[in-house]
Amino acid sequence: MPRELFVTTALPYANGSFHIGHVMEYIQADIWVRFMRMAGHTLHFVGADDAHGAPIMLKAEGEGITPEQLVARIAAERPHVLNGFHIAFDHWHSTHSQENTELSQDIYRSLRDGGLIATRTIEQFFDPVKGMFLADRYIKGECPKCGAKDQNGDNCEVCGSVYAPTDLIKPYSTLTGAQPVLRESEHYFFKLSDPRCVAFLQDWTQGNNHQGKARLQPEMLNKAGEWLGAEGKDLADWDISRDAPYFGIPIPDAPGKYFYVWLDAPIGYLASLKSYCAKKGLDFERIVDANNDVEQVHFIGKDIVYFHTLFWPAVLHFSGRKTPDNINVHGFITVSGEKMSKSRGTGISPVRYLDLGMNPEWLRYYIAAKLNGHVEDIDFNPDDFMARVNSDLVGKYVNIASRCARFINDNFAGALSSEPLPTDLLRAAEPGITNLLAHTQDLAAGIAEDYEQRDYARALRLVGTVLDRCNAYIDARKPWVIAKQNPQDPDLQAICTIGLNLFRLATIYLKPVLPVLASQVESFLNITPLQWADAGQLLMPGHVINGYSHLMTRVDAKVLDHLFEPPEPTEPLAAAAEIATEEDADTVAIEPIAAEIGIDDFSKLDLRIARIVNAEQVEGSTKLLRLTLDIGEGRTRNVFSGIKGAYNPEDLIGKSTVMIANLAPRKMKFGVSEGMVLAASGSDEKKQPGLYLLEPHSGAQPGMRIR
Ligand code: 2FM
Ligand code: ZN
Repeated sequence: MPRELFVTTALPYANGSFHIGHVMEYIQADIWVRFMRMAGHTLHFVGADDAHGAPIMLKAEGEGITPEQLVARIAAERPHVLNGFHIAFDHWHSTHSQENTELSQDIYRSLRDGGLIATRTIEQFFDPVKGMFLADRYIKGECPKCGAKDQNGDNCEVCGSVYAPTDLIKPYSTLTGAQPVLRESEHYFFKLSDPRCVAFLQDWTQGNNHQGKARLQPEMLNKAGEWLGAEGKDLADWDISRDAPYFGIPIPDAPGKYFYVWLDAPIGYLASLKSYCAKKGLDFERIVDANNDVEQVHFIGKDIVYFHTLFWPAVLHFSGRKTPDNINVHGFITVSGEKMSKSRGTGISPVRYLDLGMNPEWLRYYIAAKLNGHVEDIDFNPDDFMARVNSDLVGKYVNIASRCARFINDNFAGALSSEPLPTDLLRAAEPGITNLLAHTQDLAAGIAEDYEQRDYARALRLVGTVLDRCNAYIDARKPWVIAKQNPQDPDLQAICTIGLNLFRLATIYLKPVLPVLASQVESFLNITPLQWADAGQLLMPGHVINGYSHLMTRVDAKVLDHLFEPPEPTEPLAAAAEIATEEDADTVAIEPIAAEIGIDDFSKLDLRIARIVNAEQVEGSTKLLRLTLDIGEGRTRNVFSGIKGAYNPEDLIGKSTVMIANLAPRKMKFGVSEGMVLAASGSDEKKQPGLYLLEPHSGAQPGMRIR
């Protein structure tokens, strides 16, 4: 039965480029969507930028642009990566849009009219210099338990204790350094603890979707159960408002109040669909109508499950809307075992991957080979990547085409056998399989089930068995030997016809993962675009194929190395070491002035005032100090600097300096360095000894930009 589905991936924050984690999720969803389409279903696959919230507002402010300008700049980068990896969203939108404003406000009004919104006055830290309430991540101070300095607003990284920001000793705002004050403000809450919500969520999380299957993966159902607690008693009301200044959607009838970004973010799924429908002349209201069986499926990462399994279904249900059929949760992607940072990604940049000319389908294949339907992390390992692509994809799959097509094209003018295939030639090389083609066709249903359950790893393992059998078949039948004896031997034609049919079946099974390669194969085989049901047929007797040209190259180890190289090898500052000797103290020439640049070149450097929160020796290094720098981002940066010879770490703590904040992170022996501090030194250490960190005039605050 053909189904209609509305599919989304998590909406990425519009303050940063895509990292490999985003790309992994999009590849996972894209494979699923492509499979479902091949199986005859209708899908609407949409994404959008998650544009709102304080971090985006503050980042734009830091750059001296409006949040809209920042969001537009990031949005402009998206197509390069999405198209580059063949991620075929039908539409990409933004949560900062007319549709989202209307939908969010409508949904809010329904919740309010249903008695599910409460207001309450809460006390919160306020930055008197910045004139804004501070989210926990913008507050630091001394840990109330162990006294460690510069700990986060809600937990201590030194002793591990958890507390409220108001418990911090000597709290300061990471935005301005000012001491925050407690201030009251009225907040709006979605009453998740309302008995109606509790009952609904207990039911919904455990219930079945339109297909009669579980909405949540077993491990997520457990999690939801924990969050709900016994009888749903653990659900707290959800604070959905933020005070101005905030980049968000105004709350109706509440001047100066905005929806918290997480309220309007998932509504952005609907907004994107609505905008898509308008573009395509589709009926949005029909698709989202709670009373039909259009399915709604969300792909997300394991870090945002609470929002999607509790808040989101409740918001939808109590505003009279359709709730999700599935929340498909995946784990994280690590790179050579190294955990990724949500904001900065990992060593692999998707843009770099594409710009190096690496084949996007290698990555699609590799990621697919690692993904199953569970919430497990996967690792990108360069050696494994190379092995799987080169030996499995190219060595086993692509090679079949070249092994068989040669004879068909050269000896039979491109025509496959027109006689029925002899029974004895249909036998596999391994015992027990009497008809290799029928056997391979029979795998279609199982592989389809694997795709639908997102167990791509299993699907590809099954395809792997097809490829192994096919190669073993060709090895055993030795068409090249027959060709030498009799180039026109009908057995030669039959063997290659069987090989190409197996290749065609494998192509059907791989097409969701390798859409571009599959379309090249379709032209080579001279056939119309393959659908899943085509596995039920074979190529017609006498079918004529086109000439074969090489389908895919192997991964080159050197290119792969480039993928992992730090973008710009910038040397850490040289250490000041030797003491100048008397006889050298003659004339001092300054270093020649560098080549002229324009103001645009200068403005590429994002120089910021940084507070040195900590400075310490680096064990095993004679040159480096490890600096912990605060530039007001709500987190600190780790920077290795070659200034050990010039400074005692203790003397630097608490001082301000200048750092370059947009330098690509650099992996060093001792860890990742996330920028560089600026220091002055002479061109000739002997004549002009010393190294001098820059220090701003007093009053400059962490995060201020140097222009
Ligand atoms: O965690 C994130 O990156 C969020 N921007 C995801 C939002 S998903 C949806 F709710 F929009
Ligand atoms: Zn502590």
